[in-house]
Amino acid sequence: MIEVEHVSKVHSRGKVDVRALQDVSCTLPMEAFSFILGPSGSGKSTLLYLLGGLDEPTSGQIRIAGQSLTAMNRRQRDRFRRDDVGFIFQNFNLLANLTAVENVLVPYYPAGIKREQSQTAVELLVRLGLQDRLDHRPTQLSGGEQQRVAIARALLKRPKLVLADEPTGELDTANSHAILQELRAMCRDYGTTVVVVTHEQEFVQETDHVVRIRDGLCLWHPPS
Ligand SMILES: Nc1ncnc2c1ncn2[C@@H]1O[C@H](COP(=O)(O)OP(=O)(O)OP(=O)(O)O)[C@@H](O)[C@H]1O
Ligand SMILES: [Mg+2]
Repeated sequence: MIEVEHVSKVHSRGKVDVRALQDVSCTLPMEAFSFILGPSGSGKSTLLYLLGGLDEPTSGQIRIAGQSLTAMNRRQRDRFRRDDVGFIFQNFNLLANLTAVENVLVPYYPAGIKREQSQTAVELLVRLGLQDRLDHRPTQLSGGEQQRVAIARALLKRPKLVLADEPTGELDTANSHAILQELRAMCRDYGTTVVVVTHEQEFVQETDHVVRIRDGLCLWHPPS
């Protein structure tokens, strides 16, 4: 289980403090597909960053499969992020001077790229409909195409936990459904824990777990 307990996050912007999350408590099941649903500015990205160890809560606790993220030191948290988490950023975070394939492989450069990783990178991009864009750079790609490169990058290492921040934000309805299907298939086939941030109710299916947030508050009740 992912357990979020009394988590608050205050962003300091100059002299102004923004309370992005206020005493949020909820749980999300492992090896399942969950949505974090809420309007713009409600704190969804903030919560996802905390779940991925990309940022720390101002107060409160987060545990993932019994392991406290908040108790980890920096090295442990870096390792968790590198080995276990595939993060799909809302703004893609692609490197401008690299091609689509190179962007997917970028997390592996430090350890050296193996041939099967390059192959898997191409296969993933093809599955996501980018067979004709493999050697394009981000400026030569549409927003939706960049988004799919970012998704392939997050999925390549087959992480235990996939955190996707509005992965369909730039996509039309058909492509949105295709991406969500890809994420659902990962969850089903590999037991990946998938958490998707969205503000669109239309993608939510009956069996999905949903955490709703609004104005930094979590509207969540433990299952009875
Ligand atoms: N790094 C930051 N510094 C200061 N304020 C921030 C920072 N990140 C987010 N905020 C503020 O915290 C609040 C929650 O932001 P967050 O990005 O989590 O919302 P969101 O639900 O993801 O919105 P959206 O749907 O528009 O992406 C907003 O008021 C935002 O302006
Ligand atoms: Mg956001």
